[in-house]
Amino acid sequence: MASFLCDLVKPYVEKLINGAIAEAHHGKKLANKVKRIKELKGEKFENIELPRHLPGVERSSSENYISFKSREAKYRELLDALKDDNNYIIGLQGMGGTGKTTLAKEVGKELKQAGQFAHVVDTTVSFTPDIKKIQDDIAGSLGLKWDDCNESDRHKKLWSRLTNGDKILVILDDVWDRGPHLDFEAIGIPKRDNHKGCRVLVTSRSKRTFDIMCCHKTIELDLISEEEAWTMFEMYAGISNSESKKLINKGRKIAKECKQLPVAISAIASSLKGQQNREHEWDVTLKSLKQPVSMHGVDDDVVGVYNCLKISYDNLKEENVMRLFLLCSVFREDEEYSVEYLTRLCIGVGLFRDDDYTYNDARNKVVVAKNKLVDSCLLLKVDAKRLKMHDLVRDAAQWIADKEIQCVKLFDTKQKSLAITNNLYHYQIQFDH
Ligand SMILES: Nc1ncnc2c1ncn2[C@@H]1O[C@H](COP(=O)(O)OP(=O)(O)O)[C@@H](O)[C@H]1O
Ligand SMILES: [Mg+2]
Repeated sequence: MASFLCDLVKPYVEKLINGAIAEAHHGKKLANKVKRIKELKGEKFENIELPRHLPGVERSSSENYISFKSREAKYRELLDALKDDNNYIIGLQGMGGTGKTTLAKEVGKELKQAGQFAHVVDTTVSFTPDIKKIQDDIAGSLGLKWDDCNESDRHKKLWSRLTNGDKILVILDDVWDRGPHLDFEAIGIPKRDNHKGCRVLVTSRSKRTFDIMCCHKTIELDLISEEEAWTMFEMYAGISNSESKKLINKGRKIAKECKQLPVAISAIASSLKGQQNREHEWDVTLKSLKQPVSMHGVDDDVVGVYNCLKISYDNLKEENVMRLFLLCSVFREDEEYSVEYLTRLCIGVGLFRDDDYTYNDARNKVVVAKNKLVDSCLLLKVDAKRLKMHDLVRDAAQWIADKEIQCVKLFDTKQKSLAITNNLYHYQIQFDH
């Protein structure tokens, strides 16, 4: 996967950086740089990647978690539904960015701490379920080793573990109603009968997912209230009541433009953090938010949130950080990656390159830039070492890249053949569902 992605990303970022079509001797230069990195590292290049981390709800950070009043009843309902032995599959539904993943993890954490479940495991399913990855996530968190188990027998081993009587909660995050159907049997998740201590919590944007899965109970997550949106804005922007009335007024107007959607509020508010003394930044943000936008090819229901994310992206201001943001959007949906991997990619594609650099210099620059993205809520910290991009943020990033640089979608055969005929070999790679 690493070399595959490197191959794909290399031309994309080259295009991004140079804004030109070809750079004939790029390959040779790149080879020299890779050689140099190897010399400087004094070790095999392949060994820089860190082993995959095992997921589990305990690792998810809840330092920014806000317990919204309007969601208290839903939280309780979810908690009770998961405690009730009559329920097996429970669905949590809400539009993208409302806080489903955050809430599911928080509920899972509470149930684990209360001893209601011996294990709480979470795995992201996404549009195209990767059975092997889902199995690895669940098994890894349960400490189940595959040993010499054949790939075709994994589902049996997992099924035995999930039905051995332990109370286990499996969170299947971001399941879709379109695309490939999620096959419980192929994964090894018990069916409705004989599931023993196992329970499943599914999150999805669509209610249809739960009909397909025959969920026992479905809980819907709405937008937060206007006042909660303001509380959230205050926290992410790092402001309090002691700020000037003028600033608070502007802040409230900005928060209102985020339409009570958590993912938009967190991105806009955090992009203004530390800018209390630069009110013009707030004015520019507010003006941009108020301007009517038309986005060709973008669904009406996400135009507002794309606009918020674009403004947050513009507020990054530093070109390298912006480029890193676009680069992160070429990873597959919900893919997690380490800083080391990102550093290697950046070096490989020439981002953060100086004429004379060491691996550590490049790594430091990547760390500084990714911290800025994390602080701006445009990139998520999975744990101390791993990162990922929120699915909606990734969609918006790909849309921005589409607008800002000439790009070719390789999944579009027409575009691909046109590019090949025109001898374009620098593409932006965009993975489709
Ligand atoms: N309860 C909450 N407290 C604080 N921030 C939240 C909360 N819920 C959501 N957010 C913010 O909104 C973003 C989107 O939430 P997420 O749970 O990923 O939404 P969804 O899974 O519905 O797309 C999060 O990354 C976080 O920044
Ligand atoms: Mg989610």
